[in-house]
Parts: sequence; C-alpha cells; structure tokens
Amino acid sequence: MSTGLFDISGKVALVTGGASGMGRMIAEGLLQAGAKVYITSRKPADCEAAAAEMSRIGTCIGIAADLDPPEAVVELANKIKALEDKLDILINNAGRTWGAPLESFPDKAWAPVMAVNVQGPFTLIRELLPLLKNSGADNSDNPARVINIGSLAGKAVEPLPAYSYVASKAAIHHLSRVLAAELAPDNITVNAVVPGYFPTKMTAHIRKEEDTSQEFLARVPLARYGTAEDIVGLCIFLSSRAGAYITGGEHIIDGGMFGCH
Ligand SMILES: NC(=O)c1ccc[n+]([C@@H]2O[C@H](COP(=O)([O-])OP(=O)(O)OC[C@H]3O[C@@H](n4cnc5c(N)ncnc54)[C@H](OP(=O)(O)O)[C@@H]3O)[C@@H](O)[C@H]2O)c1
Repeated sequence: MSTGLFDISGKVALVTGGASGMGRMIAEGLLQAGAKVYITSRKPADCEAAAAEMSRIGTCIGIAADLDPPEAVVELANKIKALEDKLDILINNAGRTWGAPLESFPDKAWAPVMAVNVQGPFTLIRELLPLLKNSGADNSDNPARVINIGSLAGKAVEPLPAYSYVASKAAIHHLSRVLAAELAPDNITVNAVVPGYFPTKMTAHIRKEEDTSQEFLARVPLARYGTAEDIVGLCIFLSSRAGAYITGGEHIIDGGMFGCH
C-alpha cells in the first residue's frame, strides 16, 4: 500500500469501463493502493465477475451501466449517489472507437463515439458534482480528482482511420481544461491522461501480426507498449497529495512518441 505523498488509501473512486482493458488495470492499481473502487461495464455478468475477482484485493463494487444514452449515465450517477456521500476520484476511462477508410467512413460512426468518449464523461461529471464537491470541501490540500482518459490520437496525427475517435479525444482533452478552470474554486482538479499504445482489445489489431507490431514499436522511443504499472503510476500520482497542485493538464504517457519528435 502506498504511503505519504502517494497515499490514496481510504479514497472512494469510480472507474468507468473498469471491468476490462485499461480500466481494469487502473481499478486494480487503485485497489492495491487502498482505495474503495466502483467499476462499470455494460455487461452485468462481466461487471459482477470482475468486481468479485478484484474484491480479493480490496473493496470493489460493480455497477452495470452503458454510457450511451445520457439518461443511462444519469442513472449510474444516481446509483453512486445512493451509496456514497462523496467521491474522491472519478476516472472517465470507458471509450469506444470506429475504424473505416475515409471514403467510406459512415455517418453512423459519429454519434456513438462522441456519446461515450465526450458526452458520457461530461454528464457523469455534471451529475456527480455534489459528491465531488463534498470531497473537495474535506481538505483544501487534497482536492477531489477527475481524470479523463484521452488519447495520443487526439493530440498527434497518428496513422489511424478513426476520424470520430480522434476528434472525440481532442474534444475531451479540451473539455478537461475548460472544466478544470470552472471547478478549481470547488477544489476539484480535472486532468486529461493521454495514453499512447497499451495492449488492450482496442489495440489488438496492431499486435496481431508480428511485422505490424515491430513496425509500430520502431515508432516508440522507449520501444515497448505501455503497461499497467505505467498507467496506474500516473493515475495514483494525479489522485494523491503528490498531484494535488496539478489541474488542467494533458499528461502524455506514450514512451516518448509525442515528446521525442
Ligand atoms: N489501449 C490503448 O492503447 C489506448 C490508447 C489511448 C487511449 N485509450 C483509451 O483508454 C480507454 C480504455 O480503452 P481500452 O484500451 O481499455 O480499450 P477496450 O479494451 O476496448 O475497453 C473499452 C472500455 O470502454 C467500455 N465501453 C465501451 N463502450 C461503452 C459504452 N457504450 N458504455 C459503457 N462503457 C463502454 C468497455 O466496457 P465494457 O465492454 O465492459 O462494457 C471497456 O471497458 C478508452 O477511453 C480508450 O480510448 C486506449
């Protein structure tokens, strides 16, 4: 369990999409650091199973929820409000993508991607404001934290035919800064975490072929994919006393893909 500057034990966190992929990495990391963690998944059975498995580490509660449409997000927030008086850490991790060549990129690829990647996080922040404010009011040196998971693809021009996805990620980076300014007086920090490439379902197509993977890794100065430790380390930093003075930031975690070029 972490101590001192990086201590988050006893904090209450919500990680959307925490049953799998990067959300699962983050949820497990927060649990290992002593936080109580709520996770969501669209699939009730997966959500329950993931929460049961992670309960071996610490208190983990699964709530099945879709983040599209917004009414479902309001319902999720209401469930959290019925269970908690304050929320210390909100990690908007759930996300979806859509890949297709420009010439045939369908109109139907926009609404669902923007709904989950931008509107969902916004609605969840709005609805959970009373709980985040309660957390922020507790201790001026230890604000409530909102961490929105963006993407390198919303910051740099990556070779991905995922037009609605890259636009949605650029949008969540900027929205994070706007909300950081608005919520600072309530002692709530808002930061965007901007990951490069992590081995999850979303990047499975890159790792499928050895050649593609080598070609990709040649573009990463640190020559590897991100790991659970990498993403958890940054989230714990931003959620602990160590990161209390940081808000409105875009924190790139990509093995140097952005910064070294
Ligand atoms: N992997 C990477 O290299 C990478 C890079 C940059 C950014 N990211 C971002 O990291 C986040 C996690 O992605 P991942 O890599 O873990 O991909 P993933 O394995 O495909 O996971 C996507 C997550 O989003 C959730 N989700 C998708 N649609 C949803 C919906 N309509 N309602 C609620 N939840 C929904 C999924 O939950 P269920 O399926 O359980 O419902 C799942 O937990 C995303 O925001 C992604 O854009 C990933």
